[in-house]
Amino acid sequence: MKFFIDTANLAEITEAANLGVLDGVTTNPSLMAKEGITGKDRILQHYVDICNIVDGPISAEVISTDFENIILEGEALAQLHPNIIVKVPMIKDGVRAIKYFTEKGIKTNCTLVFSAGQALMAAKAGATYVSPFVGRLDDISTDGIGLIAQIRKIYDNYGYKTQILAASVRHPMHIIQCAEIGSDVITGPLSAMLALLNHPLTDSGLAKFLSDYKKGNG
Ligand code: E4P
Repeated sequence: MKFFIDTANLAEITEAANLGVLDGVTTNPSLMAKEGITGKDRILQHYVDICNIVDGPISAEVISTDFENIILEGEALAQLHPNIIVKVPMIKDGVRAIKYFTEKGIKTNCTLVFSAGQALMAAKAGATYVSPFVGRLDDISTDGIGLIAQIRKIYDNYGYKTQILAASVRHPMHIIQCAEIGSDVITGPLSAMLALLNHPLTDSGLAKFLSDYKKGNG
């Protein structure tokens, strides 16, 4: 399973990359705004900066909602760097644009997916990735992880190549559950990834090994 980090924070991206287990990055307009990255030129430069830190798929989201402008924006994003994945919202013009990008060889990430039907449409349009938002479904008392399982089954039934990118992952159990189901990718905060490292028996075991070594070796 691939690990993407869901942030526009360059320090966090660098920390995750240095860990050696990071495969890619997802961003969205809210994450860009959170880092104070505003203005078209600055936003485009920020994507390039991210591409220079991580050698893997970097999702860059369009903000247009009509077909013609999604195409213009997506083509400009795709030209920034070979690793850019054009992130397109799950709307009618977005699905049309994904089909267009697929035929042009431009990779896409269909975002804001909350149902199996939407995931099926993204796959039929040829999306490279589909992003079901696990955490936001959980937030409204709906089974986010259940949706990942449902999409996995549908894609496997027909051999769709679209990769399931479980998004809005909030904690380590989301990551483990996604891995059990066979999600292709998860994207979440650095904290969720780092939390996978923790176990109290590791801490106490290491403390004992080190103290026993010290006793014998001074
Ligand atoms: C998807 O790519 C989104 O950027 C993201 O995962 C949304 O997560 P959130 O619900 O934590 O904002």
